[in-house]
Amino acid sequence: MTMNKRFEACGSLVMLVAFMATMPACGSRQPIDDRVPPAHLEKAIALKAPFGDARLAPPEIVAAGKALYEGKGTCHLCHGMGGKGDGPANHMHANNPPRDFTDCAVQRDRDDGELFWIIKYGSTGTAMKGLIPSLLSEEEGWKVVAYLRTLCKWGEPPA
Ligand code: HEC
Repeated sequence: MTMNKRFEACGSLVMLVAFMATMPACGSRQPIDDRVPPAHLEKAIALKAPFGDARLAPPEIVAAGKALYEGKGTCHLCHGMGGKGDGPANHMHANNPPRDFTDCAVQRDRDDGELFWIIKYGSTGTAMKGLIPSLLSEEEGWKVVAYLRTLCKWGEPPA
């Protein structure tokens, strides 16, 4: 490689790195980073389930949410039956993999409304598409949020 060529190769690498640094949406994000865009965050946090705090939802609501998660909601295909983000289609999303709902740190960081907002509108640039009203009604979406809340074992050390 001549000096010139080496300079060129290195120059394009620097350009590439600079480009990637200015385009965080194209790279992978930390799971803990908010998924609701800042402009919508306040409104998303204000959204509340009709039955109140999703972590305290009665068992019949949680059971209905589980049936939707494993059924017509198709959530398990990406997020996995146990919610670990290991469903059969998870390998298709290398950059921003499906959320692992057993991760209590992420669950603690999120308000119910943020989870609901992503189910409704999706997470731009990822495989997470808005699924309300296409697959679920709003009421069903909240039931799924109640089920998601049971996937992290609150108070227990991570497995
Ligand atoms: C085609 C694959 C796919 C399906 C089907 C899918 N998801 Fe997702 N989901 C993803 C991916 C990928 C992400 C991560 C997006 C990101 O990193 O921003 C995600 C993220 C989420 C989040 C955001 C979690 C957070 O970090 O705040 C929620 C909530 C969610 N999914 C709920 C659901 C529910 C509920 C269903 C079913 C009704 C569902 N998803 C169906 C792929 C999927």
